[in-house]
Amino acid sequence: MKIEKTSHSRIRKMNFKNIDFGNQYSDHMFCSEFKNGKWKNSIIKPFGKIMFSPISLVFHYGQAVFEGMKAYKDKNEEVFLFRPEENLKRINRSAARLEMPTIPENIFMIGLKNLINIDRDWVPKYYGQSLYIRPFLIATNGALSAKPSQDYMFIIISAPADTYYKHPLKIKIEEKYSRSASGGIGFTKAAGNYASSFYPTRLANEKGFDQILWTDSSTHTMIEESGTMNVFFHLKNKLITPKFNDNILGGITCKSILSLAEKEGFFVEERNISVSEIIEGLQTGELREAFGCGTAVVINYFKTISYKENNFDLPNLSEKERISLYFKKRLLDIQHNLSEDPFGWRVQL
Ligand code: PLP
Ligand code: COI
Repeated sequence: MKIEKTSHSRIRKMNFKNIDFGNQYSDHMFCSEFKNGKWKNSIIKPFGKIMFSPISLVFHYGQAVFEGMKAYKDKNEEVFLFRPEENLKRINRSAARLEMPTIPENIFMIGLKNLINIDRDWVPKYYGQSLYIRPFLIATNGALSAKPSQDYMFIIISAPADTYYKHPLKIKIEEKYSRSASGGIGFTKAAGNYASSFYPTRLANEKGFDQILWTDSSTHTMIEESGTMNVFFHLKNKLITPKFNDNILGGITCKSILSLAEKEGFFVEERNISVSEIIEGLQTGELREAFGCGTAVVINYFKTISYKENNFDLPNLSEKERISLYFKKRLLDIQHNLSEDPFGWRVQL
């Protein structure tokens, strides 16, 4: 792999005390091209503009998939990735569904590890902060006929990250719009899934909500997930999350919480959850907590859930009583190498 380092690092301009999620990028990026059926020209080079033909399929038919992952520092400023093999598996599931080539493990891992090593000074050192890493795969060639591209580019960029949401969330259960439908691409991290959510999310934001709680597209009676998060409910002493299906993005944070919770003896259920069960739990007080989880968000609890224009406030628990904050700390402690790693999730660079 070719490595061209920048002679003009921008790191001195980076204010690590005031990190704005996703608005400042590290010095380098990784690129690899897929041409004539082969991966070639892997390179780490200075972060910068890339040029594609206007007929590239990514611009017309949306062949684009991405990932979100993070690198963390421990007290000695050693750098760790968290379950990167899960992101590789997921981007390849997404790619296959969008009729794109899968990325070989060595290209993904060698590109990723070298890139983050070169840019390791960009990994913030404080607890809860991280370097957010964005691998993505796009179609770079085509013609205006609607069929898959022959050429693709796989790119990795990264951005220092702090808290995504700075407060507990107000969530609206969606009854009209859908994020995904059975047989569709909801289980993939396809760029189009996010584009289609922007309009209903803006409508929800205008009514004072932070995010939408998506429901199934045919009946709007079953809970799926939230904007950039999978969801958990602490209901009747059980920790319940909707079982992954082809409408739901199988989150790595969600899977990690499930593994930790099961190991630690919590009553855990992965199953279908209806809107009426949640509303009943809100009315009776049996729903102690509801929270979202994801790489960017980490874990954030919901303050209010709204359904059919009625706002239901969740119990006002102390920090100590919150199962969401317990799992947030468990995860961050593992990610920052502050506690044992019983499942071997950390990958040291
Ligand atoms: N669901 C959606 C739609 C997301 O965008 C994300 C964020 O990546 C998640 C769930 C959580 O997935 P993960 O924990 O792998 O980041
Ligand atoms: C992530 O958590 O990695 C996401 O993909 C969220 C992102 C859309 C901001």
